[in-house]
Amino acid sequence: MRVVTTTKTTAEGTTDSVAQRSPLGWLLAVVLLVVVALVASRLLHPMDDYTRAVLSLTGDEVRGRSIFVMNCVDCHGQWADGKVGPSLRNVSERLSPRRIVEQVVSGKTPPMPQFQPEPQEMADLLRYLNQL
Ligand code: HEC
Repeated sequence: MRVVTTTKTTAEGTTDSVAQRSPLGWLLAVVLLVVVALVASRLLHPMDDYTRAVLSLTGDEVRGRSIFVMNCVDCHGQWADGKVGPSLRNVSERLSPRRIVEQVVSGKTPPMPQFQPEPQEMADLLRYLNQL
């Protein structure tokens, strides 16, 4: 009996090496790296219950404004345009909601004091800051 062996042509090999060099591979590698970095940062900085509670609430801008007037204007100015502390105009474009919450409750950057607003108050404040 005759055995028919099929020999693969080099066409396939050529396709393979083109695929290896294609930018798609690099793109996939970069996407994978970003995903791994994001997962790692989530694991290293898990969102605490307080922040989670704040972010799940809907803030009220008017109440946020009055909380701001009572606690923040001495340093950030009547219209949040800066005094002892920096201007908070467009602060939501510079900092994530999570970072803003941390800034307010952590007390890590003296002279800014550590505030302890109720989650609803913090959500109101955040809403006010978001529209500055
Ligand atoms: C005693 C003064 C003082 C008071 C009161 C104060 N802050 Fe601040 N705040 C600062 C200073 C100073 C900084 C800059 C800290 C740094 O980065 O070193 C700052 C930074 C910030 C930032 C970060 C700004 C940025 O662009 O990085 C936010 C947001 C903020 N304050 C919000 C508030 C809110 C909301 C209140 C009221 C609940 C408040 N602060 C009350 C002094 C104050």
